Amino acid sequence: MVSTLDGAAQHDGRSQPISTATDMRIFGTLRGLADVVIVGAETVRLEGYRPARARAEFADAREAAGQGPAPAIAVVSASLDLDYGLPLFTSPLVPTLVLTGAAAAPDRIATAEKAGAQVVIAGDGVGVDPVRAVQALAELGHTRLLTEGGPRLLGQLVAAGVLDELCLTISPMLTAGDAQRIAGGPSVAVPKRFELVSLLEEEGFLFGRYRRT
Ligand SMILES: NC(=O)c1ccc[n+]([C@@H]2O[C@H](COP(=O)([O-])OP(=O)(O)OC[C@H]3O[C@@H](n4cnc5c(N)ncnc54)[C@H](OP(=O)(O)O)[C@@H]3O)[C@@H](O)[C@H]2O)c1
Repeated sequence: MVSTLDGAAQHDGRSQPISTATDMRIFGTLRGLADVVIVGAETVRLEGYRPARARAEFADAREAAGQGPAPAIAVVSASLDLDYGLPLFTSPLVPTLVLTGAAAAPDRIATAEKAGAQVVIAGDGVGVDPVRAVQALAELGHTRLLTEGGPRLLGQLVAAGVLDELCLTISPMLTAGDAQRIAGGPSVAVPKRFELVSLLEEEGFLFGRYRRT
């Protein structure tokens, strides 16, 4: 996740204006390590999400770890209102997953499956239960899970206690306005404590890695 000094997680609906090339390099590295990238449907819609690429520098490590050539993207959606004409569905290297609840509209599940997505049910209602999502992905052999947000999804992962690490880029920018913070939704009863594992700096950007204590 990337945040400005005043806590904005996006500018004009995208994170790119507050990011930097080094941030994107770290973003790519985290993808290179992951089995699956979990992302909220609104981020997919607003950022025009594309499938993950296979990258030569990670090929050997991925093969040794029994991973596919690139992580699958797992889109979390209750509505299943997704553009199935996007490359994310038409030409992924590994099939895109769609995480939804058992009460999701059957015709929309059928549309997603027809588009080649693997639909994974991880909740009893229309929504996804984060704990169930982690379990369902583990049953498919996916245990190295990376989430790229957005804030509404990340807030639920924090509240459910399934987030054990945070890689956070602090961008030396101020945007004012009312952009979301990196994690939204209802606040937790007791603040969750994380410890700093590493901190890098380049051109005023701070790249922190935090682990749940
Ligand atoms: N700063 C950063 O690092 C960063 C990272 C990512 C995104 N962003 C920014 O964040 C903004 C979008 O984030 P957002 O918080 O508005 O949305 P989001 O978390 O990306 O997506 C929200 C959507 O995800 C689905 N969803 C979330 N929780 C669900 C659950 N429990 N069960 C089923 N579906 C669930 C719903 O999709 P349906 O509506 O389809 O049901 C919901 O509308 C964009 O502006 C993006 O640029 C910033």
